[in-house]
Formats: sequence, structure tokens, C-alpha cells
Amino acid sequence: MADWRSWHAEYDDAASPMAQRLAAVQQQIALALDRAGPGPLRLLSLCAGQGRDVLPVLAGHPRGGDVRGRLVELDPELAAAARAAAPPSIEVVTADAGTTEAYDDAAPADLLLLCGIFGNVPDGDIERTVAAVPSLLAHGGTVIWTRHRRAPDATSRIRAWFAASGVAETAFLAAPGEGWSVGAGVLRAPSRRPNGTRRLFTFAR
Ligand SMILES: C[S@@+](CC[C@H](N)C(=O)[O-])C[C@H]1O[C@@H](n2cnc3c(N)ncnc32)[C@H](O)[C@@H]1O
Repeated sequence: MADWRSWHAEYDDAASPMAQRLAAVQQQIALALDRAGPGPLRLLSLCAGQGRDVLPVLAGHPRGGDVRGRLVELDPELAAAARAAAPPSIEVVTADAGTTEAYDDAAPADLLLLCGIFGNVPDGDIERTVAAVPSLLAHGGTVIWTRHRRAPDATSRIRAWFAASGVAETAFLAAPGEGWSVGAGVLRAPSRRPNGTRRLFTFAR
């Protein structure tokens, strides 16, 4: 099993690829908040880690106070760090985000984060998760995702799956070579009711 606690330490090195990926994700979160309509906004982050992508953005963005929602993280220590950093409007649940049971009652969201997942699960799980996005995201809401580009680079297929789910891409940012990529898009298809509780993905390591 991967050491996800050590993995987060790379964020502390501003010159690291992961810190650059973090900045790209945070930029897309801020843009999603910029374009969101007035009123309350619902957040759902799966495999949220320490919440270091979204929580600092909420703290600094004028719409941050409008956001309520849920971070789902399996590792209790990482979840505790996220909980300590989260405002009262953000619930941090220590649970398996691979099944919708952990967030059936928190969807659809206006901002859905699928960061740090697609590099750790089989392609079929990615496709299933992307196909489920219209049941997790409200019409007009933003989904942000990440994936490395190591061969065989899956990002073209992932982007096509998002398009087939009715997500219009707003950004695709990629580090040089086979490094990280960050995708963002807005759900232009109707949101649909979930088809019962189901498993979307299982981490391979
Ligand atoms: C690559 S990290 C990404 C963390 C965060 N999303 C980010 O991008 O900063 C993957 C995270 O997924 C968590 N994780 C692994 N399997 C999980 C599962 N089944 N349910 C919820 N979280 C899981 C790990 O503990 C780790 O914090």
C-alpha cells in the first residue's frame, strides 16, 4: 500500500512537480468559484488527503464562505489533518470514497474534486467514475481531476470519457513530458439521480 502520508510531504517543496500540480488544481478551484452563480455552493472531494488543494482556496476566495460540503478520505491521520484545517461548513469523513455510500447524501455537488485518484486505479474504474459524474455533479457544476501522463498516456481517453458524460472541458494543463496533468470541466448535460449505492473504484496499491 502506498505511503500517502509521505506523499503529501512533497507539497512542502515549492519546486516539486507535486507542488506545481497543487498550484494548477488550486487555480482551477478558484476559477470554478469565480464562475459559480450566487448562493450556497456544495463541495465534494473524493480521496481528499489533507484537503490541501481546496481548503486554502476556500480560506482566501470571496466565495469561500458560501461553500459547504464533504471531504472523504480513508486514512484517519490525513483525514484528521484535513478536519483540523477545515472550516465548520466542511465535513471531513474518514471513509472509503470508492463507494458512493460515503457521499450519496452529499451529491450532487457544485464542485467535485477527483484529484489523485486516476493514477491509482484501473482504467475501467476511471471510466466508471467518469460515467458517474452526472450523478455526483449538479448541472453547471465543475469537476476537477488529475492524472499522470506516463506511457501509455490515458489522458486522451479520460478527456473523451468526460466529454461523453456531458462535461465540457474548461482547462487541461499538463507538465512537460510524462508528469502530472490537471483537467477541469463543467457539466452541461442534466444532472441525474444516482442509480443506488455502487462501487466506482478501488485503489490498486
Ligand atoms: C494521491 S493522494 C491525493 C490526495 C488529494 N486528493 C490531493 O490531490 O492532494 C490519494 C489519497 O487517496 C486516499 N485514499 C486511498 N484510497 C482511498 C479510498 N478508498 N477512499 C478514500 N481515500 C482513499 C489516500 O489516503 C490519499 O490521501
